[in-house]
Amino acid sequence: MIAKAIFVGILAAVCFAVLYFALSAPKAATPNPLGALVADTINGRSVYLAAGCGGCHSAPQSSQVDNLILSGGQHFETPFGRFYAPNISMSVKNGIGRWSFADFERAVRQGVSPDGAHYFPVFPYTAYQHMRGQDIVDLWGYWQSFPVADIKNQAHDLPLFLGFRRNIGLWKRMFMMQDWAISGDLNPDEQRGRYLAEALGHCGECHTPRNAFGGLKRAQWLAGTKNPVGKGHIPNITPASLDWSVEEISEYLSSGFTPEFDTVGGHMVLVVENLAQLNPQDRNAIAQYLKAVPAVGVPQ
Ligand code: HEC
Ligand code: HEC
Repeated sequence: MIAKAIFVGILAAVCFAVLYFALSAPKAATPNPLGALVADTINGRSVYLAAGCGGCHSAPQSSQVDNLILSGGQHFETPFGRFYAPNISMSVKNGIGRWSFADFERAVRQGVSPDGAHYFPVFPYTAYQHMRGQDIVDLWGYWQSFPVADIKNQAHDLPLFLGFRRNIGLWKRMFMMQDWAISGDLNPDEQRGRYLAEALGHCGECHTPRNAFGGLKRAQWLAGTKNPVGKGHIPNITPASLDWSVEEISEYLSSGFTPEFDTVGGHMVLVVENLAQLNPQDRNAIAQYLKAVPAVGVPQ
């Protein structure tokens, strides 16, 4: 009887282990078909600005001028622990100087490292997964001009159970949604805005509330939430709360001025500094997208 119970127990454990490893496995690397595309580095710069890579990966307290020195070192406090942004400059020793385009593409669009480990979703690859092939080729082309910074990476400060990256495979299955947050009938401008906001600008990472596992609550897309990295509240930018016109939103994304002539503050400053350098049609497209998002009011 006892032997049978032990046998069933072992069998269950083996089944669980097999299932766990199957479900949490990163996708295998496949030959990269995008390698044949030619990079347009001018567009690469726009992708870089819209995606805000520099905002997280430049040195702590660096200014917009240093936005291309990607030495890492900034930290992000989250309910799950403290994460440090790594060095992603072209340093061979401490950065990603040895990476191939395929390594870069897999990291940014799948959240998987060259040695096959999952990245934590503080790196917003759940948004970047939608980045178009040509755009990531252009981004990598632009990257080749970046200076080398030889700063060593700092380990994240996480509770032990979270340190095991394999678990992120299960998280991705549950919360890395492959479709757009906003679907339905969008005109071409709104579609461009969606691409800029959902795939590149990762607006939802700050403006959408999260569940207990850190997954974004899509039913409350952009409906505002408490600031995950400090005090205060990140505003609701659905039409339930943001009643600015398309022109007013575009103006804010370009100059940082609200219709009441307040100026942008907090983490949004960096976002505006980047978006201000895109072309006006792109800011207008983001504004049109925000008008097309369902109005969701969230009880505060
Ligand atoms: C919100 C902050 C944030 C933004 C924005 C961001 N990253 Fe990161 N990134 C991180 C963090 C944190 C990690 C570490 C993840 C981990 O250890 O699992 C990371 C990891 C990486 C890595 C892996 C580096 C290594 O040594 O393995 C690469 C490559 C990378 N990011 C590139 C980018 C690019 C390209 C962009 C813009 C398209 C970008 N990141 C935008 C925070 C960010
Ligand atoms: C890193 C976090 C972060 C990201 C990413 C982010 N925002 Fe914000 N956003 C904020 C914060 C914080 C504020 C409040 C700014 C303030 O207090 O002045 C804000 C304010 C705003 C406002 C003004 C709302 C109001 O009522 O005053 C708009 C519009 C806005 N964001 C749009 C966007 C769009 C569009 C994107 C994506 C392209 C985006 N944000 C990405 C953090 C973020």
